[in-house]
Amino acid sequence: MNLLERPRRLRQSESIRLLVREVTIDPSKLILPLFVCEGKGIEKKNAHLPQLFTYSTDKLMVFLKSIEDAEIGTFLLFGVSDKKDSKGSEALNSDSALCHAIAEIRGKYPKAIVATDLALDPYTDHGHDGLYKNGEILNDETVEVLCQMALLHAKYGAQILAPSDMMDGRVGAIRNALDANSYKNAAILSYTAKYASCFYGPFRDTLASKVIGDKLAYQMDPSNRREAERELELDISESADIVMVKPASHYLDIISDFRDRSLVPVAAYHVSGEAAMLELGAKNGLFDRKRAIQEVTTSIFRAGADLIATYFAVELSRWGKQ
Ligand code: PBG
Repeated sequence: MNLLERPRRLRQSESIRLLVREVTIDPSKLILPLFVCEGKGIEKKNAHLPQLFTYSTDKLMVFLKSIEDAEIGTFLLFGVSDKKDSKGSEALNSDSALCHAIAEIRGKYPKAIVATDLALDPYTDHGHDGLYKNGEILNDETVEVLCQMALLHAKYGAQILAPSDMMDGRVGAIRNALDANSYKNAAILSYTAKYASCFYGPFRDTLASKVIGDKLAYQMDPSNRREAERELELDISESADIVMVKPASHYLDIISDFRDRSLVPVAAYHVSGEAAMLELGAKNGLFDRKRAIQEVTTSIFRAGADLIATYFAVELSRWGKQ
């Protein structure tokens, strides 16, 4: 055969494949989610996803010491609390384990970036991300609480605030609140396109969050692609510093759209249910665990994510160093 084009020339050895590889997993682009509860000596693993653990602050610091070799640069913190009420009052407790964890991580690891999730669902007895009255989520009232939450976390040292609630107008309101209170340098990572997905199950178990009804009146319909662009436009106009798509592996089209249509970094959250599926498949011998995790993570980067929040951040980073 007289072929001019032979793409296989560039696949013939590991060295040449590495040379032309388009996407590599860079550990500095991985964000590790962390869950913090009140108390001492507490360490709880999610039954389906062992990487989703809840620690009291003392145990969290021991854990962080044990993963120093992985050199994770950014942590996304969530509060886990059994103090739940209709208003999610605990979200504004200025003496919470979460607040202390932010300060401790900042103190112990001065180079680390601490991001915090802003939403009320860890603290509400109805399980919703916002204030809930007569079967309705109150948008503007919720935004006010989120602003307070952002200020509290910024005061303790969080450099990135990540609203995950999907209320309208929250990015702009949080930006104004931060700026008016001398936190001009605190960045906003907005969960811009957050879908009403069924893949949040393990996360909600960890939070002991039981939702009354569903979150369809604020999270996005998984059928909608153009609507994500609208959310993107709005968040950028409200000055989001980073825009996030969530979930990740089933929303690669949205990630790709965001990459094409924005000049700010695009993040993706490989969520608990997506991660747990990989664990279950590997446990049942359907595929090799490490290869599956690397392949899915690579796909999310390939689609256009600049950064990924993933429960596999530590392992991915260690594998990269091998
Ligand atoms: C809610 C929130 C959720 C996640 C992050 N923030 C769940 C939800 O919207 O019900 C999910 C993360 C995961 O599943 O790993 N504020």
